[in-house]
Amino acid sequence: MRVWRSAAALRRALAPARRRGWSIGFVPTMGALHAGHASLMRRARKSCNLVVVSIFVNPTQFGPREDFSEYPRTLARDLALCRREKVDFVYVPRAGEVYRPGADTVVVQTRLPRHLCGPYRPGHFRGVMTVVAKLFNRVQPTAAFFGAKDYQQAAIIQRMARDLDFPVRIVVCPTVREKDGLALSSRNAYLTPEERRRALALVHALRLGRRLIALGEKRAVRIEAGMRRLIWSEAPGASIDYASVVDAGTLEPVRRARGKMLLALAVRIGKTRLIDNCVVSPSRKNLSS
Ligand code: PAF
Repeated sequence: MRVWRSAAALRRALAPARRRGWSIGFVPTMGALHAGHASLMRRARKSCNLVVVSIFVNPTQFGPREDFSEYPRTLARDLALCRREKVDFVYVPRAGEVYRPGADTVVVQTRLPRHLCGPYRPGHFRGVMTVVAKLFNRVQPTAAFFGAKDYQQAAIIQRMARDLDFPVRIVVCPTVREKDGLALSSRNAYLTPEERRRALALVHALRLGRRLIALGEKRAVRIEAGMRRLIWSEAPGASIDYASVVDAGTLEPVRRARGKMLLALAVRIGKTRLIDNCVVSPSRKNLSS
């Protein structure tokens, strides 16, 4: 495994693979890697000849009151995980290498970012799209791998790749969960043991929403209210940004359960903002999970 600190060195290292027509799998990350990232790397390893991971805590996707400076930075452990997953190249850009002084160009999208996390994190998706576009240009991957836990992010990147003609296949991989159901996230590291216990309210609320739909509840407001009530009872004091039923394609709120929907949650447990989601359609199959 080789670690590259500059885009020029990375480009030179990738050139022979490109000449041979090898497929390049890319997993962009902000580090603090966990089993969820490892599953993306494994998926990339399975389907591509060469695997590149980037580790860059992207300042432009954090709001002024968000956790950029406290975001966990665990490079030595991250590199060990990449080595275990047989990653070929890790791109860890030096500070100042990604955004050059005077940079003034950003990527924006108008529809998908209007929903769910968008209003609560102004500018977040602009920062994500801009950095991912830059990373796509630097790595020029055949396929890029994202987790379904960040469903809205994955949908926005899919749309960006299509709209801006990036010749990359976007692969969205299932959320990896702890045994008790908690979705893996780098931010779980902030939770105290008590908060970790309360955080299970998210997956329990999603299960409840899924069950209500399977039992025939059609009114989105009822499903949303049920999920909220469960979160407040299992995680007293939690602050809910949203507990929403939306169309899985457009992310627009739905009034009645119909077609493929996303149940999506963003909840602050203590100081930690957690998100989780599941895709669901009105069928009795939802009763089994
Ligand atoms: O999901 C993340 O870790 C980040 O948003 C990403 C895609 C690496 C962009 O900084």
